[in-house]
Amino acid sequence: MNSDASIDAEAAFVLEKPGLNPALLPRHVAIIMDGNGRWAKKRLLNRISGHEKGADAVRTIVRTARRLGISALTLYAFSTENWQRPKAEVSGLMILLRRFLESERKTLIENDIRLNAIGQIHRLPESVRNILVPVMHETASCKAMVLTLALSYGARAEIVQMAKMIASAAKAGALDPDAVDEKTISDHLYTRDLPDPDLLIRTSGEMRLSNFLLWQMAYTEMVFTPTLWPDFDEAEFITILKTYQHRERRFGAVDPS
Ligand code: FPP
Repeated sequence: MNSDASIDAEAAFVLEKPGLNPALLPRHVAIIMDGNGRWAKKRLLNRISGHEKGADAVRTIVRTARRLGISALTLYAFSTENWQRPKAEVSGLMILLRRFLESERKTLIENDIRLNAIGQIHRLPESVRNILVPVMHETASCKAMVLTLALSYGARAEIVQMAKMIASAAKAGALDPDAVDEKTISDHLYTRDLPDPDLLIRTSGEMRLSNFLLWQMAYTEMVFTPTLWPDFDEAEFITILKTYQHRERRFGAVDPS
């Protein structure tokens, strides 16, 4: 995807979508992928089948985001609260995650996508870390898009960790407490290298943030869709991007017109 010809093909892909303005694409899209369990229940399947279908939707949306030229995509794949789910479901999700990383390894490199992870990565099973860390290293110099998986992630835990780091630095005399500002806080979060999300999408009809990127989403535009995550597809993603492009973002200021 690095050749001029493929970049032209990407541009054509964007332009052929009526109503989508390449200049107004969000830089960073964050997604709460919800509804796998309900999708499975409706079909009398077990919850893991829903997560399996959900992993297919992840593949589709990663490819679409890359082709559209979105530079950062962050997916809430496993929260700190998700550890409380039945053991079999947690293991099933970890197996799916490992399979996803194995199957996408080559595609990420070929498409110049850097893999990033945020959350308490040390809590993940070794079998997941053994593939996650190498893929992160192998894709470290990829530039076209950063795909961040939030794994064992919780925003409050992230904020607590940030506060501890800042307090320790102040105690050690390395940081003047009076100099602490918003940038200091952002620089001590997992997302220090990412722009704040421009757009949050949550599927399944729930309208809450569920402990996801609480600091980072102060000015994020939000779109909630009733679609269950396994049914979320490229067409709906593009429709939501169009909705985003019609939003007026003022970041607390007044309309200049
Ligand atoms: C929420 O649905 C979804 C999750 C807790 C996990 C998300 C996981 C995937 C999409 C698949 C694996 C991920 C990757 C990156 C390959 P839910 O189970 O809470 O659904 P429900 O609210 O309908 O029960």
